[in-house]
Amino acid sequence: EKGGYRHFMLKEIYEQPRALADTLAGRIREEQGDVYLEDLALSDEELGGVAKLNIVACGTSWHAALVGKFLIEKLARLPVEVDIASEFRYRDPIITPDTLTLLISQSGETADTLAGLREAKGKGGKVVAICNVLDSSIARESHGVIYTHAGPEIGVASTKAFTTQLVALVLFALKLARVRGLLDADGCRALTDELVKLPRKIEEALEQDEAIEEVARLYMNASDFLYLGRGNQYPIALEGALKLKEISYIHAEGYPAGEMKHGPIALIDENLPVVVLLPNNDTREKVISNMQEVRARAGKVIAVTDHDDPLVRDNADQVLVFPSTCDDLMPVILSVPMQLLAYHIAVLKGTDVDQPRNLAKSVTVE
Ligand code: M6R
Repeated sequence: EKGGYRHFMLKEIYEQPRALADTLAGRIREEQGDVYLEDLALSDEELGGVAKLNIVACGTSWHAALVGKFLIEKLARLPVEVDIASEFRYRDPIITPDTLTLLISQSGETADTLAGLREAKGKGGKVVAICNVLDSSIARESHGVIYTHAGPEIGVASTKAFTTQLVALVLFALKLARVRGLLDADGCRALTDELVKLPRKIEEALEQDEAIEEVARLYMNASDFLYLGRGNQYPIALEGALKLKEISYIHAEGYPAGEMKHGPIALIDENLPVVVLLPNNDTREKVISNMQEVRARAGKVIAVTDHDDPLVRDNADQVLVFPSTCDDLMPVILSVPMQLLAYHIAVLKGTDVDQPRNLAKSVTVE
């Protein structure tokens, strides 16, 4: 059942090229320069009338929501608010008839996310879900669904469900951008052309597995980790830290790199590994100066990047290099090293990777 892999989590990490291809299948309309979301159940007119989007989720799905805000605000210029479901459901959120609420849930059974859906619906708003499980409660109660086609996810630590959620969010952002008249057919094709190359690039990213395992060996005994990223990589830093906490029981925090001076820099000493997400974009130099700040205090820098050059080498203890894509899709690629680093550290520490202590795959009670 584990298909020759030692753990379900590893199998699911390696299934990502297939899962991403399945999530894209049949949804790109190359000729029209558009995307097609078969179960969204909202007309272009209804979608075009949306004035505000709330995204509501828990855990890893909430990290996907945070990436979604970047994608949707950038491509579709629609204001997006992101909430943790257990907060959203109790804060009397403002839902007007032109508010759309998007729930993100792998299982479709998370109690707080389902309660958030009911709250939004009860206030007269439209609700759609990004969900992996057909006919789950959240899928059934939503007006429309974008299914991720990740296939069953058994490992408690979410992996392929997360990257397929990111791809579903890209498709949804493209759809919104098209109906809002903010993207023409060529603009849409520019991104979908990159999307179709993603499964192959994830395969290439997986080839770094051994290099990541080496890094895991170096730092497996650390008691704390810091993960830093800017912009759409900040949620990936949060996700990297969550993966590590969940399966290796090492304390880890994700921070926006620019927040360092506002507190976390006090933690840095020679015992603190800092994982830095460094895509080759216009904040690269700022992130490199954050790396310098870490190293000036004897902290250890593990740079995770798609662009290797002397500047990175000079400012990092270890450099892990991954394939490049456009900035909107880089979070998908850099999720892979977050998963594998946590996985290898957990295996080296001998924890129960697929069934970590105190955790359930689906949190169906409050
Ligand atoms: O099934 P859901 O996506 O609604 O689950 C949400 C969280 O419980 C889930 O992502 C959790 O944080 C995972 N254990 C993360 O690896």
